[in-house]
This record gives sequence, C-alpha cells and structure tokens, in this order.
Amino acid sequence: MLLGVNIDHIATLRNARGGLEPNLLQAALICEKAGADGITVHLREDRRHTKDNDVYELKKLLKTRLNLEMALTEEMHRIALDVVPENVCLVPEKREEVTTEGGLEVASRIEFVKDFVKPLVDAGIVVSLFIDPDKKQVEAAAKTGAQFIELHTGRYSEAYGTENEELELNHLKDAAKLAHKLGLKVNAGHGLTYENVHRMREIPELIELNIGHNIIAHAVFDGLEKAVIDMKNLIK
Ligand code: PXP
Repeated sequence: MLLGVNIDHIATLRNARGGLEPNLLQAALICEKAGADGITVHLREDRRHTKDNDVYELKKLLKTRLNLEMALTEEMHRIALDVVPENVCLVPEKREEVTTEGGLEVASRIEFVKDFVKPLVDAGIVVSLFIDPDKKQVEAAAKTGAQFIELHTGRYSEAYGTENEELELNHLKDAAKLAHKLGLKVNAGHGLTYENVHRMREIPELIELNIGHNIIAHAVFDGLEKAVIDMKNLIK
C-alpha cells in the first residue's frame, strides 16, 4: 500500500510565527526521502495552513506526486488548472471546522461534480472524491468521471477499540469492493494512526493511504523522517 503524507500541519506550525520555519518544502523533501509516495496539502478557503505559493513551489520541487485537496469552488478550480498537480482530491469544506468532517455529497449533485471534474481530468490530473463509505455515494462517484475515491476513515478511526470497530471496518470493506467493481480506484484516509492503521491491510482494494496529523504528531518527538518510515512499515 502506498503512503501519501499530508504536511498541512507543518504549515500550521510555520504560520504560528508568521515566518518560514519549519520550512514546508524541506518537510516535503524529508517525507519523500523517507519513502512517502506522494505529498498532500489542503489549500483551504481561509488559507489557515498551506498557502497558494506553497502549492506552486511544491509542484516544482516534488519528485513523487503532489496531491492537492480542495473544495469545489471556482477559485480552487482555477488554481488547480494553473498548477496542474498530479492528483486532486475533492473535499467538502466548512469554514468553522477544525478538520474535514464528513465526506463529499455527490449523490444529489452528480452533474455538478461531473462538470467540475471534467476539465481537471482533461488537463491530465487524476481526480479523487473524498466520500463516506456509503453505497449511494460510491455509486454516484462512479458516474462523475473521477478515477479515484478516497474513503473517509474517520468513523472507523473513532470506533477503533470499541464495539463498533468491526461495523465501521465492514462499511469500508463493502464500499471499497463496490467501488472496485464499478471501475473506481480506491484510497483512504483521515484519523489513521500507528495504532489503528493495521486493519487497512484487510482491504485489498486500497491503493494509497493519506495520513497527516498522526505522522506530524510522532515527528515532534521522533523526527519527521523516522515518523514516515515507521508509518510506511506499518502499512507494508
Ligand atoms: N484525507 C483527507 C481528504 C483529509 O481532508 C485529511 C485531513 O486533512 C486526511 C486525509 C488526513 O487526515 P489526518 O490528518 O487525520 O491523517
């Protein structure tokens, strides 16, 4: 399984002092050196962590892939078509949320999502939709022209170690199977940790995990390179 490392929180720390440290580009290079298969940043509407310039610089610098997470807004569409990252992951976004809360609502607006996705795919970008492991959303995603879905693992992560763990894992397993059957490729992410990530290996359809907060949290004590290597070993 591949590992995409979300480095937004390096930017969060940098922005706390308004300078350049810790340097986001340096962080990306360390992640790549440690074996990350891609680097993910979420350019939020309020630019609370990653800034526009970071996205352009990362695109120039990375040897792996830049995965740009973004909302379905005109502004983000324009930026994505200008930067042309290797991957775009479309996510819902609420200004007041601490992190992305639920999956994208696709089922009730298939045509809108399809129109948003097409110019991105035509530009050579591989597009993924971040959705809940829900049959209705998976079926809708398959009609949008996006090549990938990223299954939201937040509910699984919260349920880990509780009586609902199997139930939430089964939702992910069923959604991944259905997506694969419908011709979609499948990634997953959100809330994954050193402790709970091992069960993702039970889902054979998964291609890549996108993990941010837990890796950066471990990096505070162990260093970023070791934190990425450790996570890579856990998902091998
Ligand atoms: N995937 C998506 C679509 C996300 O929005 C996020 C959080 O930015 C992640 C993965 C990573 O989540 P975490 O930081 O909890 O690992």
